[in-house]
Amino acid sequence: MKINYTKSGIPLSAFGLGAMNLPTYQEQANEILKAAIDNQITYIDTADLYQKGKNEAIIGKFLKENKLRQDVIIGSKVGNAFNMNNDEVTWDPSAKHIKEGIINSLKRLNTDYIDLYMLHGGTIEDNKEEVIHTFESLKKEGLIRAYGISSIRPNVIDYYLKHSNIDTIMMQFNLIDNRPERLIDSIESKDVKILARGPLMKGLLTDKYESILDRKFQEGTLDLSYESIKHALETANKSGNLSELSYGYLMQFPVASIVNGASSKAQLLSNIRHFENVMKSETNNRTINDIRKLFSNLEYKDHLV
Ligand SMILES: NC(=O)c1ccc[n+]([C@@H]2O[C@H](COP(=O)([O-])OP(=O)(O)OC[C@H]3O[C@@H](n4cnc5c(N)ncnc54)[C@H](OP(=O)(O)O)[C@@H]3O)[C@@H](O)[C@H]2O)c1
Repeated sequence: MKINYTKSGIPLSAFGLGAMNLPTYQEQANEILKAAIDNQITYIDTADLYQKGKNEAIIGKFLKENKLRQDVIIGSKVGNAFNMNNDEVTWDPSAKHIKEGIINSLKRLNTDYIDLYMLHGGTIEDNKEEVIHTFESLKKEGLIRAYGISSIRPNVIDYYLKHSNIDTIMMQFNLIDNRPERLIDSIESKDVKILARGPLMKGLLTDKYESILDRKFQEGTLDLSYESIKHALETANKSGNLSELSYGYLMQFPVASIVNGASSKAQLLSNIRHFENVMKSETNNRTINDIRKLFSNLEYKDHLV
């Protein structure tokens, strides 16, 4: 497995496991986690919010029982205050919440440090200096090794690029949602790396695209109609496997880890196989550029200033 380093030296497997959709039963989740480890995936992406802490706890139990903490890189996220008794979630990027949040995440994850701690969203109205100061203090205390943000808001991304020492930005990025392209130069100029989430667009960029389009994208997505997505996918599918094309596309950018979600071991293994095919074949950039032209150029429309 290829390892990419962030500017603080955090080693991220080029293919990461997005844990958000892991089953909530330990045994079923263990199967997927074990398959990831067996295939040299060392980056595991979670958040305190996922299943209200259960996701971190499942990962923590698996790592402890298998004595794997030293072998993996954990990314987790903070900023959403959730209520255990109802579905209420409120945004709270205060120092108090982040400091309480990390203590709880560390307990659940059975560890005394998190490799990469991310702000789980964020708005331009937040007290961003307080957020940065808090992340910097956690780093000094040794509770985290590096920090980043997960955001698709250009104004928020721009602020953190200019005023903080973030290592990474997590954003949805794939052939269909190509909005991050416009931000690449500014991200690269700060030596920040991208964690590309949703690389297969909820399964749309796989050979099951027809059924997934019907099941999940009847109304289209991101200003794109059902028909236009279908047409682009049908045409692209004639040139190669859609997952491989999307992975190859992402490899052209400063993406440190392609963070793939999977709800079953079979999905994960199939995605790994396609990722490995791309790594082996050194996919031709010209093919990728031609494929990219089949998909509309999208851009972020909100939160620009
Ligand atoms: N704001 C944030 O910070 C944020 C937001 C979202 C995600 N994330 C992180 O990013 C990770 C990845 O995001 P994501 O889960 O949206 O990514 P994704 O990989 O695009 O979607 C995962 C889903 O796609 C489907 N899928 C994956 N592989 C497939 C295959 N081979 N064939 C058919 N369907 C397949 C599955 O859906 P089914 O379960 O329906 O089969 C799976 O649950 C998450 O796990 C999480 O760690 C972060």
